[in-house]
Amino acid sequence: MKRIEHIGIAVKDLEAGNDIYTSLLGKAPYKLEEVESEGVLTSFFQVGESKIELLQATTADSAIAKYIEKKGEGIHHIAFEVEDIYASMKEMAEKGFRILNEEPKKGADNKLVCFIHPKSSNGVLVELCQTIKTDH
Ligand code: CO
Repeated sequence: MKRIEHIGIAVKDLEAGNDIYTSLLGKAPYKLEEVESEGVLTSFFQVGESKIELLQATTADSAIAKYIEKKGEGIHHIAFEVEDIYASMKEMAEKGFRILNEEPKKGADNKLVCFIHPKSSNGVLVELCQTIKTDH
């Protein structure tokens, strides 16, 4: 793991969340992005070498909607940056971690992502993410 890439926070209302975190962090989000496949609207704040990702559900069956229904707003996942997501997924599976998706998914902010079940990691949903490399 290279670093904590971001911490994901589930919010009911992204606009209200953006206002709160803009005030808290002293800067506005650098990006808003909808990930339709995941049913989420996201915003990103840069904080040093890491980011805060706010997530609002756009559909009733989105994972974020379910999370908020069960636990309320709050920290939803911690994302670690990896160099090679395929190698990391294989390594984590071999170590006994339960990987939630067989193939990496396209996440927000130009990332390939996969998740580790919170039951494998002391109740914390862990995201592995790798920046999508674009060849020019
Ligand atoms: Co994330």
